[in-house]
Amino acid sequence: LPNPNQRRHTVQQTLSRMRLIAASGAVERPQLADILSQLLPLAAQTDWWQEEDFPAPSGDERHARYLISQDADQTLALYLNVMRPGRRIAPHNHTTWATIAAVNGVEFNHLYQRLDDGSRSGVARLAAISTVAVQPGSGLALLPEDIHAVEIRGEQPIRHLHLYGRALEALTERICFDLDTDSYALMPVGVTTLPHCNLAAS
Ligand SMILES: [Fe+2]
Repeated sequence: LPNPNQRRHTVQQTLSRMRLIAASGAVERPQLADILSQLLPLAAQTDWWQEEDFPAPSGDERHARYLISQDADQTLALYLNVMRPGRRIAPHNHTTWATIAAVNGVEFNHLYQRLDDGSRSGVARLAAISTVAVQPGSGLALLPEDIHAVEIRGEQPIRHLHLYGRALEALTERICFDLDTDSYALMPVGVTTLPHCNLAAS
């Protein structure tokens, strides 16, 4: 069984190093790569993130999001996402930086480029750039205006760590895009973040 104290200690040590990176100046691609390189070893501790502490969604639910840690000022928020096949999240930005690291399974990330100049309210035209299969041992880093969509395929639930520069509940300006209508709208937070006592209380 996982050792919650060791997990909590290692998570907090890792977040401390990430805070130093984020505090050293602007978070651009090189700093994000450093932060992601700190997140990957946490995700590699697969026995820390399993069903006994973080149950997969059941019934009609396809997505469970667990809060692992969040700073008091709502910066630096770490979540475990457990998503079942069929879960799709429409293209969106984050308005803060984001990093993803795989524990189990593949999270397909479709990346997009915005083609219009943003001058027309509610209108956005996107072009697909590439699809990244984020799987164990790998991750993905996104700047605040990078746009991605998420898709879970296959047969098994996937478990991935997501770390953001600000808590999701504080991201009131992020937008999601509708590829069919070339439009965008403010993005709701989606599923409710679930607390996790062993980790969030520290
Ligand atoms: Fe996202």
